[in-house]
Amino acid sequence: MDSRASEIPTTGSDDATSLYNEPDQLMRVVECLTSQRRHVPLWYLYDTRGSELCEEMIQTSKSYKLWHHEYNILRSHADDIASKVSFPAVLIDLGSAASSKTRLIIEALLKRHGKFTFVPVDTAKEFIETCGRQLQRDYAGLTVEPFGGMFMDGVRHSAARTGAKLLLFLGSSIGDVSIYEQLKMLQDIRAQLSEQDRFVCGVDMNTDRETLSEAYGEQWIPIWRDNLISRLNKDFGGDMNHEMFKYNFEFVENPADGDTPSYVQLSLSSSGKQRVHFGKLGLDVDFQDGERIYFYDGPNTSCKWNLKQLRRLAERSGFAVDACWANDEGNYCVICLAPADVRRLSV
Ligand SMILES: C[S@@+](CC[C@H](N)C(=O)[O-])C[C@H]1O[C@@H](n2cnc3c(N)ncnc32)[C@H](O)[C@@H]1O
Repeated sequence: MDSRASEIPTTGSDDATSLYNEPDQLMRVVECLTSQRRHVPLWYLYDTRGSELCEEMIQTSKSYKLWHHEYNILRSHADDIASKVSFPAVLIDLGSAASSKTRLIIEALLKRHGKFTFVPVDTAKEFIETCGRQLQRDYAGLTVEPFGGMFMDGVRHSAARTGAKLLLFLGSSIGDVSIYEQLKMLQDIRAQLSEQDRFVCGVDMNTDRETLSEAYGEQWIPIWRDNLISRLNKDFGGDMNHEMFKYNFEFVENPADGDTPSYVQLSLSSSGKQRVHFGKLGLDVDFQDGERIYFYDGPNTSCKWNLKQLRRLAERSGFAVDACWANDEGNYCVICLAPADVRRLSV
């Protein structure tokens, strides 16, 4: 056994300065589930099992192509991205999961600098610790310091470090943040960065209803219905039956010349009127026929932008577009944002 790997330092929910506290977060799930518009926070779908299933699906699916689109762009431009920050650099990966595409950036930074620190940030704490140990075994010169917790806690935690920061938000995860919170979140991120830092986001731009309905189709049922219901039953002693809930995909198309992106909306709906009992909470939850449980607080599960909308969002958040790399199909891009006062390039 690699002794370095077993000594991997961890921060996050054990860190007194973090706002992430699992019992509080679990109570938040109960609040969401019992609110008038029943929903679960998106992070709750990604326990260790959910994260494993998701990683396997996004890499092997023939119809969900985001992972491959982003991988191909990063493979071509990892050196360009690494060149955006000077040494000593800190790489922070928001919603890192397995960091499978991040490996390309890690390799480019190591080639350039020989060593640096990597901070994966994700609520799936055990999962990123396991993946972090593997990364540390795979790359000499890499120090991995996983942060188990919420996005903004991870940003604040990392902002205090010295050295230029390269902040990644891959997998079009920005599109999973509620459309009501995206601007505020980007403004908060901007406030934590300084001139030398860069914020690199992967963004899905596909608005073709047919390919989206295939991409977000039945292949997600084992993860977003079955695993979610198993987790709810385990955490709260529930008797939810997954066969009594139907998985639904909808696509809401907004005008391409407006600020609001189009988005995918995913939900489960109750097949018939039913009562679910959560033994650990002493709570009964009644569902009407067709009543929905949405994923995430906002209306969107996954936003689909165009470049004009992205640029506008960046500018309103205090960022300038430093570089943008799109694929040939024009349906995925990786965008590099710089704090606006150090604007160097514009695409
Ligand atoms: C769509 S996956 C993206 C994974 C990876 N970045 C990629 O591109 O393949 C989103 C990840 O974000 C994490 N996540 C979701 N909401 C979060 C939150 N509010 N704070 C921290 N992590 C969160 C999930 O646990 C999950 O691993």
